[in-house]
Amino acid sequence: MPINSETILKVQELTKSVQLEDKILELLQPINLEVKAGESLAIVGSSGSGKTTLLSILAGLDLPSSGQVYLKNHALHQFNEEQRSEVRAQHVGFIFQQFLLINSLTALENVMLPAELANQPDALERGKALLAQVGLGERGNHYPSQLSGGEQQRVAIARAFIANPDVLFADEPTGNLDTSTGVHIADLLFEMNKDIGTTLVLVTHDEKLAARCQRQVVMNSGVLTENKTLNKVSVEAKNEPDEIKGEFAEHETTTDKIGS
Ligand SMILES: Nc1ncnc2c1ncn2[C@@H]1O[C@H](COP(=O)(O)OP(=O)(O)O)[C@@H](O)[C@H]1O
Ligand SMILES: [Mg+2]
Repeated sequence: MPINSETILKVQELTKSVQLEDKILELLQPINLEVKAGESLAIVGSSGSGKTTLLSILAGLDLPSSGQVYLKNHALHQFNEEQRSEVRAQHVGFIFQQFLLINSLTALENVMLPAELANQPDALERGKALLAQVGLGERGNHYPSQLSGGEQQRVAIARAFIANPDVLFADEPTGNLDTSTGVHIADLLFEMNKDIGTTLVLVTHDEKLAARCQRQVVMNSGVLTENKTLNKVSVEAKNEPDEIKGEFAEHETTTDKIGS
């Protein structure tokens, strides 16, 4: 067994590079990371540093170029798309930065979709309950175009939780929201972390959100390091998606080695 039962996610010497014309871009330098079941982890770092690339590989949406990634005991790096899609359906919730709701489905249908794909018999009841939990119990028949950005993000959160994922990955879950909606969304995530024991792996520019996680790591030009200072950061900073402030600044890249 490659990982013990307390570890839900384990990454060993993981790299990602892509070929761009005649150049090879190294997006992720060898990364080692272990996340315990029930833990909350924030991945911070400047724009273009590789956070989304890493999150996609951890969630089994993309493959590493080398190295290992285990989710529970599934060796995702050895799995094909079909096998990874099975693991995602069983164990993973994902909140994308752009929500990615299906416009032709109502809020309730969007939430129910993963449960239906996983053949869960109680999709309707669970879908209704989750929509109520994110404060949208009366909006189930509305289409995404009839909902505000914050409401769409709440639908995306309800959808991410419907299959009772062991791990919830969220890419900038509060990045497109105003401050008070962002705080409400974060409350929901941590409530679910506490109530259901869902492991949270969040990519965020929002220092307050990062500070609420038990652990923080910093991505800098594809290199991942632990950050022990974040909890001391002033919580006065505002949430500004493409800017890094305060203590984060010292981790900012001075040279953009992968270009943009
Ligand atoms: N498939 C790809 N081909 C070429 N460049 C890519 C690809 N995916 C990501 N990148 C580049 O890799 C870098 C890291 O991207 P990303 O992981 O999205 O960063 P972050 O989420 O931290 O902003 C960026 O410079 C981006 O342009
Ligand atoms: Mg990103």
